[in-house]
Amino acid sequence: MNKIIKCQDLSYAYTNGKIHTKVLNGLNLEIDSAQSLAIVGQSGCGKSSLLNLLGGISQPISGKVFVNGYDLSQLNEEEITNLRAQHLGFVYQFHHLLKDFSALYNVAMPLLIRGENTQIALEKSSQILKDIGLQNRLNHRPAQLSGGQRQRVAVARALINNPNCLLADEPTGNLDTKNTQEVLGLMMELKQQKKSALILVTHDMNIAKKMDDFLTLKNGMLV
Ligand SMILES: Nc1ncnc2c1ncn2[C@@H]1O[C@H](COP(=O)(O)OP(=O)(O)OP(=O)(O)O)[C@@H](O)[C@H]1O
Ligand SMILES: [Mg+2]
Repeated sequence: MNKIIKCQDLSYAYTNGKIHTKVLNGLNLEIDSAQSLAIVGQSGCGKSSLLNLLGGISQPISGKVFVNGYDLSQLNEEEITNLRAQHLGFVYQFHHLLKDFSALYNVAMPLLIRGENTQIALEKSSQILKDIGLQNRLNHRPAQLSGGQRQRVAVARALINNPNCLLADEPTGNLDTKNTQEVLGLMMELKQQKKSALILVTHDMNIAKKMDDFLTLKNGMLV
């Protein structure tokens, strides 16, 4: 089967001056194009660091990441950005919304960057925001939204491109039960309709169990 994400023998560490924090240690992972995978693990074990490597946001010390067959180590920054825009949707643990833009424009941004017609981009964004109950918050900037609302806007932004693989870092961490269900529903809908892959970092075992597979990150490896 086609692998949307593959990584081989991945190692990663942070270095701040003399302090060396080893995070990943020879990690291997393969995700089929329609697979959903939950990644669980203790706080600080390296889950967010791993997603950043899979999305080409940071580079490993050693080992390789392939996205849709492309070896990220062979691409320049611009090529990685394009590959990411084409195939991946990213929901960050701390939303990373653009503070000077409304919810509507934040969600539309991936389409606008891709050169989509502005009116069409805004219509699509407005629809997806309606789907997650934010029809009355289209023109609010992130600072004018609650934590959970920001998180939902970030999920909408990741889904707007219909990515082949969604990388979601605790996307429901700030949400109540109702909104958790809505956000999960949206992500699962993408998976069903587009046969896309989903990699979900979560602390919630009820959510992890809903995925096709789940792995635990421990001692820098997935088990
Ligand atoms: N910029 C940095 N410099 C140095 N160490 C870092 C840096 N960012 C993260 N770390 C360390 O790397 C380890 C992995 O961090 P990471 O954010 O990937 O963990 P996590 O599994 O996502 O945790 P959480 O569940 O709390 O979000 C942590 O122990 C953290 O202290
Ligand atoms: Mg994290």
